[in-house]
Amino acid sequence: MDAQGVHIETHPREGEPVFSAGRPDPCTLVLFGATGDLAERKLFPALFELARSGLLPDDFAIVAFSRSKLEDASFREHVKEGLQKFARTQPVDEATWKRFAESIETASGGYDDPEAFQRLGQKLQDIAKRHKTGGNQLYYMATPASTFPQIIKSLADADLLKREEHPGQKPWHRLIIEKPFGHDLQSAKKLNQELGAVLDEKQIFRIDHYLGKETVQNILVFRFANAIFEPLWNRQHIDHVEITAAEAIGVEGRGGFYDETGVIRDMVQNHLLQVLALCAMEPPVSFGAEDIRDEKTKVFRALRPVEGEEVAQHVVVGQYQGYQDEKGVKKGSRTPTYVAMKMNIDSWRWQGVPFYLRAGKNLKKRLTEVSIHFKSVPLGLFSGGGASCQRLQPNVLTLRIQPHEGIALSFESKIPGEDVNIGGVTMDMDYAESFKKPVPEAYERLLLDCMRGNATLFARQDSVEQAWGYITPILQALETEAGGTVHTYAKGSKGPDAADALPAKNGRRWSTL
Ligand code: BG6
Repeated sequence: MDAQGVHIETHPREGEPVFSAGRPDPCTLVLFGATGDLAERKLFPALFELARSGLLPDDFAIVAFSRSKLEDASFREHVKEGLQKFARTQPVDEATWKRFAESIETASGGYDDPEAFQRLGQKLQDIAKRHKTGGNQLYYMATPASTFPQIIKSLADADLLKREEHPGQKPWHRLIIEKPFGHDLQSAKKLNQELGAVLDEKQIFRIDHYLGKETVQNILVFRFANAIFEPLWNRQHIDHVEITAAEAIGVEGRGGFYDETGVIRDMVQNHLLQVLALCAMEPPVSFGAEDIRDEKTKVFRALRPVEGEEVAQHVVVGQYQGYQDEKGVKKGSRTPTYVAMKMNIDSWRWQGVPFYLRAGKNLKKRLTEVSIHFKSVPLGLFSGGGASCQRLQPNVLTLRIQPHEGIALSFESKIPGEDVNIGGVTMDMDYAESFKKPVPEAYERLLLDCMRGNATLFARQDSVEQAWGYITPILQALETEAGGTVHTYAKGSKGPDAADALPAKNGRRWSTL
């Protein structure tokens, strides 16, 4: 409890989770890019945690596919070493590991080598018999985006990826793809066409790991499972919304990839726009995947376009000092590592309420949060009181996505004493303290949902294209001089000072960092 905090009692209700669809079907997961960083840091640890918690199907196998030659025993050792560093629950449980290791097999070959995919097909048939997976197959593309079309083509040519002709078809074939889903609107459409030529949209699971974060999922529960916030959730009561995703780390050895990508493609087009959509969407008619995704897509459709010279008025970009010395980064690069943006949503609910977004690397601290800034009281009733009464602070609701996951509401209170003095206090809910159980990693939930066939937390084709439709003209302007200056900022700072001008133009200021 914070010094000025208010104690919160939690009454978690035990029992069946509301949206759990139980144990997933038996299946084989084919992991392309099995020797990569994502597999080592996130995917194997998530699968292992699911195994440890008994959430994986009883009949389950993993085929680790790589272009370089792999051998089962040494690859399993490599996975174990990774788990010892990155598994959520340490030390690695030996009994679980023994079972988990037995489920891992390897395959290798070029992504354009038909024989490699024939061999993969034979292995999958053999596994289906040994593990009784019924032929259900889940393909995970943890590879660079440029390889997606070739892998999909090779899978389809080898008859390993079959279009679903009717809902609930068995055996099922599903495909998980990692962002970036394209580089701009045009390439995103091309990728979607290539996927659509082989698969039904229901078989495609576009992962945005932010949607798997507990705190991001809780935005909808907070809004729609409580009666008191939704009536205030609109232009009548909200002055502006701030969404920040600050990272304390730099590009971490991914200079080559990052220099082609930049912060807007890496963080805004996907993660931050998804968070914005959850905050801004209308109540869905049900909690079904399509109803939720329909409402999110409408938010993207309502984003007011920012193009050409307007970009410099709405977007401030920066690059941390020393970025151009990172391995893989081009000298003279204009790639932003920081962005601050003002966005408007042209809808009945949000007209006139700006959404300010910020994301950046090598900033002062790691912090991802949404702050909902309410309007000021209409009349200064306490203006006859002490100096503190002249400066009433509007209420702020903060949804802390990470770290210190929680929700805080600030409000004004009388400071005890004979005179009227007013001070700010905060009601603070902290996940760790309230629920006393560890928060699962995003990839655990997302892998499980995909095996269960639940696409609610995955990005749908139309919303991905809508989001690119908004972002692409901004990128185009920024990539030419029309986008204005790329400001330099010191590592460990709050980002470029120029970003302060965005909210300041309307008499506001950033409340965090
Ligand atoms: C990834 C980006 O999608 O998200 C990374 O590619 C970024 O650059 C990461 O560091 C941030 O994720 P998280 O979960 O640490 O906020």
